[in-house]
Amino acid sequence: MSLDTASVKPMERLSAELADDMERVNALIRARMVSEHAPRIPEITAHLVEAGGKRLRPMLTLATARMCGYRGEDHLLLAATVEFIHTATLLHDDVVDESDQRRGRPTANLLWDNKSSVLVGDYLFARSFKLMVETGSLRVLDILSSASATIAEGEVLQLTAAQNLATTEAIYTQVIRGKTAALFSAATEVGGVIAGADEAIVRDLHTYGDALGMAFQIVDDLLDYGGSTATIGKNVGDDFRERKLTLPVIKAVAKADDEERAFWRRVIEKGDQRDGDLEHALSLLDKHGAMAAARDDALAWAATAKAALEQVPQTALREMLEDLADYVVARIN
Ligand code: IPE
Ligand code: IPE
Ligand code: MG
Ligand code: MG
Repeated sequence: MSLDTASVKPMERLSAELADDMERVNALIRARMVSEHAPRIPEITAHLVEAGGKRLRPMLTLATARMCGYRGEDHLLLAATVEFIHTATLLHDDVVDESDQRRGRPTANLLWDNKSSVLVGDYLFARSFKLMVETGSLRVLDILSSASATIAEGEVLQLTAAQNLATTEAIYTQVIRGKTAALFSAATEVGGVIAGADEAIVRDLHTYGDALGMAFQIVDDLLDYGGSTATIGKNVGDDFRERKLTLPVIKAVAKADDEERAFWRRVIEKGDQRDGDLEHALSLLDKHGAMAAARDDALAWAATAKAALEQVPQTALREMLEDLADYVVARIN
């Protein structure tokens, strides 16, 4: 699958289809990310928001609402809410991960400090609540506030699973379902809810978002070993340095012989990392086919996502969402 046929077009087509809505969402984001009382807030939010980001999650909300025939304007509030929640989690995540690059720029924790990142992340969370309240839908509030709690649970679970070689694929699945897929599924579900779609369709949209999010995070974790800093806008090898048990590593550890186990124990459990260790880890991932196996898992999630849309009336938007499932996996190539 070449990059230009499968990986670029779905995003471009979705962006073009949703351009008017997205422009209004971006205006809403810019208007609501400021603060009259603490100048540090707009400094940090502008730094992150102006760096762009794919706007994937708000696009999911806009697309699902439109696909379900929504004609009102509350989906704009929801799309902005979803991006605010996402941005807040990124600010917090970069503190937790001690990351120094995000969206191709130095992180807020590097340019300012951890305290500012955490507090501005909190501010964005609070702003997101205010945006969703404006829809007047308790159901939507329930979905998005639950997702926010689930994201935090996923991040905390990951914290306690890090550095532990006994981490299983089941725990990994739980972690990424929480930290990443929960927001994807909430983003797609609220699109259906705001449009008043049938309950069966709302459930399908949830399944689609969940599976898409799972594929997306598995691929993100693959890119942390196999991508380039230029294309991902983040440092390659961060997960290794943070001693995170991501899917390729879990798969390689499961197949390790004694000598390899000793290596993983040293670099992941003890955190004793030396020059050349990342390269050696990569060679072990390669030897055990761990990257390819993880990619197969991502492909399976993408297939689940596409299958979830079968009962949705066939429209151009449905097709774009199906193609998007291929795109998230094709990012690897
Ligand atoms: C980054 O998400 C966090 C993950 C779940 C891996 P994105 O890759 O969607 O981030 P932006 O918004 O495009 O920067
Ligand atoms: C993404 O997690 C952050 C959340 C989903 C909350 P990661 O730590 O794996 O993602 P990057 O690599 O920093 O974007
Ligand atoms: Mg991170
Ligand atoms: Mg990562």
